[in-house]
Amino acid sequence: MSENLARQFLLREDVVFLNHGSFGACPRPVFAAYQNWQLKLESQPVEFLGRDLTETMRVPRIALSAELGTTPENLVGLTNATLALNIVAQSLDLQPGDQILTTDHEYSALEKTWAYVARRTGAEIVVVNVPLPLTSESQFTNVVVGGMTERTKVLFLSHITSPTALLFPIEAAIAEARKRGIWSVIDGAHTPGHIPLSLDALGADFYAGNCHKWMMAPKGSAFLHARPEVQGLINPLVISHGWTSHSKEAGAKGAFGNSPFIDELEMQGTRDPSPWLSVPAALDYRRTNDWTGVQAHCQALAQDTAQRLAELTGLTPLSSAAFSAPQMVAMPIPPCDVDQLKLDLMEHYNIEIPVFAWQDRHICRLSVQGYNSKPQMDLLIKALTELLHLEARATPQFASQG
Ligand SMILES: Cc1ncc(COP(=O)(O)O)c(C=O)c1O
Repeated sequence: MSENLARQFLLREDVVFLNHGSFGACPRPVFAAYQNWQLKLESQPVEFLGRDLTETMRVPRIALSAELGTTPENLVGLTNATLALNIVAQSLDLQPGDQILTTDHEYSALEKTWAYVARRTGAEIVVVNVPLPLTSESQFTNVVVGGMTERTKVLFLSHITSPTALLFPIEAAIAEARKRGIWSVIDGAHTPGHIPLSLDALGADFYAGNCHKWMMAPKGSAFLHARPEVQGLINPLVISHGWTSHSKEAGAKGAFGNSPFIDELEMQGTRDPSPWLSVPAALDYRRTNDWTGVQAHCQALAQDTAQRLAELTGLTPLSSAAFSAPQMVAMPIPPCDVDQLKLDLMEHYNIEIPVFAWQDRHICRLSVQGYNSKPQMDLLIKALTELLHLEARATPQFASQG
């Protein structure tokens, strides 16, 4: 299966590409659709950008909302999750002494975003440590809810974490935040196309996701979802033609006939909307190629490889399988020079994979996508065994849990 699928991607054949998680990879048919959009734009820019864009931008919103369990009115197409979360973080009205509650597993660019907001507003960042290994929902909920105080105004959580590749069970924390009047802001950069999403049912106030990672749309396609009740709180970071001085009460119309939420955020001056317009092609590609089946295969391969490495290192996995991202596993490795190991993996085995230090751990983060294969996993195990001088040790604690 994966050999045929591998040919459908543009990735270099000489590289064993085990880092889908960082920027994704786009299948050829989706990339062709993307280029078609660009050709269409270039052949009549005024018609494309000046007259038709409002209508054209609606199509991905409709297709994506069906996929994500919401309505098109709650979604805005943006270029990436960082932008979407910056818009939220810089819109919320925070005062000195307010608290922004988050965890120690967040993505570094967004940690900086909140640090910037805290500095400008006088709000305080409260970080709770999510204990490892993560093996139960209550373990997560207890630390997050335990961090909420009278002063908490924002709860910021990753749904799938970047350094630790954990699937955080965020549902109960979101519900508790809502009860206490705390805005929940979720970083779902890794979730669209990776896990099933039902955004309205999840009930977060704000949820940002990337389509260019696991959904395999071209780079620069992402969305911000906001509950209708909080859309009026959002201000654009870039003021352009979409802005109006109208109040944002329910039912207000934006400059292009959508809501102010959509019109103010989607229009940011001249930009290439082709990645966003290619999202329906990515969804079609997944349906045509039984991506649900492909994902199940990838998940089994990822978990099996992590288990094999854990048997060699004797190191406890970061979570039981239920709380690991399905197609991405952060595998603990023994202490080493992580930069050198990463270089050696590329230089001697042509393996592209992230290796880094996080807190007091050393981690190799494996991504498995449809173009990857069992022989590639075997090569990774061989390479790590040789470079880290590993030999079989005792079976680690959470190896066989579902
Ligand atoms: C958890 C998380 N949040 C946000 C981002 C940022 O995504 P982007 O660069 O597409 O904005 C990433 C990127 O890897 C991520 O892993």
